[in-house]
Amino acid sequence: MNVEKLRNDFPVLQKDVVYFDNACMSLKPVQVISAMQSYYENYTACGGRSMHQFSKKVDEEVAKARQTIKKFINAKSDNEIVFTKNTTEAINLIAHSLDWKQGDVVLTSDKEHNSNLVPWQQLKKQGIMHQAIQSNKDNTFNIENLKKVLTKKVKLIAIQQTSNLDGANFPIEEIAKLAHDNGTLILVDAAQSVPHMAVDVKKLDVDFLAFSGHKMLGPTGTGVLYGKYHLLENLNPFVTGGETVVETTYESAEFEKPPHKFEAGLQNYAGIIGLNAAIKYLMPIREEIHEHEVQLNKIISEGLKDKVTIIGPEDPKQRGGIVSFYTKMDSHEIALMLDQQNILIRSGAHCVHSWFNAHNLQGSARASVYFYNTKEEAKVFVEKTQKILALK
Ligand code: ALA
Repeated sequence: MNVEKLRNDFPVLQKDVVYFDNACMSLKPVQVISAMQSYYENYTACGGRSMHQFSKKVDEEVAKARQTIKKFINAKSDNEIVFTKNTTEAINLIAHSLDWKQGDVVLTSDKEHNSNLVPWQQLKKQGIMHQAIQSNKDNTFNIENLKKVLTKKVKLIAIQQTSNLDGANFPIEEIAKLAHDNGTLILVDAAQSVPHMAVDVKKLDVDFLAFSGHKMLGPTGTGVLYGKYHLLENLNPFVTGGETVVETTYESAEFEKPPHKFEAGLQNYAGIIGLNAAIKYLMPIREEIHEHEVQLNKIISEGLKDKVTIIGPEDPKQRGGIVSFYTKMDSHEIALMLDQQNILIRSGAHCVHSWFNAHNLQGSARASVYFYNTKEEAKVFVEKTQKILALK
């Protein structure tokens, strides 16, 4: 992977900044920006409705995007790919569309993003219980703890593949096998994994998988829900309206088949087209991303480990592109002082408030790298952070 060459594709990288907030939002290459611009300049139209040439072109481009995503995650059919506005919406779709019965249980880990926690808590009003599986001391997944709580009442395990808190990966294949042996469904929050490594839904044998475009070079407001087709067929519709139905009367509606049943209203066509360009960009380099991120992670972890507490497993290889740390200094203060020096990171609870509350911590400073970041940037980050930490 030629990082210097790839960096030229990212207009924002021409600015004098070190961008280390990739777990929140990735930067966008010119290929994605131009694909979206071309939609607006050359064929702006609705998809799925009108008969004219612009509309046909939109339909073609959306169909191509579905095909690309199908290949990208190795789904069986492009009809298993539902466009959403982000991972959060995809998870909410499942929470609102499964046929729940009182007493059903949803298991998550104890370090889920709010997106994969709050929707399950909300189901309590319907008598659905949520339980968090306790992680190991180093924040890695504890499979024995899962086995202890995996009763016949568990309808769904909803679990992250990679943590936005510490970058650690969960053994999804093993979890999926346990789930299925128990007659339980599994939904994977892949928002932090799909941008950084190859994810194969057939190999993992997961029932549902959700991810966002904006963390993987794609536009904001784009996301995907993958579901095994027969399971999508059995879900209730979530947001309803135009495009979700074949026919209506004043009294009734006949719903489309998946994926259209779940794609209500005018879609984010420019976004979907941009997402297609983003995935095409990522595919040839995807296998090399993790190793590159680990190299940067090693530099950062080695440089800071004596002065801070790094969240998650000790070995940078197990934390991919994320270094999340805390000290006695406020994490926002660290982030603001770095920002003054054009180094951009995230601080606070990273939407994992539940974990920070359980650990009695205010938050952490989090550097998250991607394939376009360099070793030089990692060294500059270490040097500047060390100076800031020495102030207190
Ligand atoms: N999940 C995003 C993050 O970790 C918002 O920053």
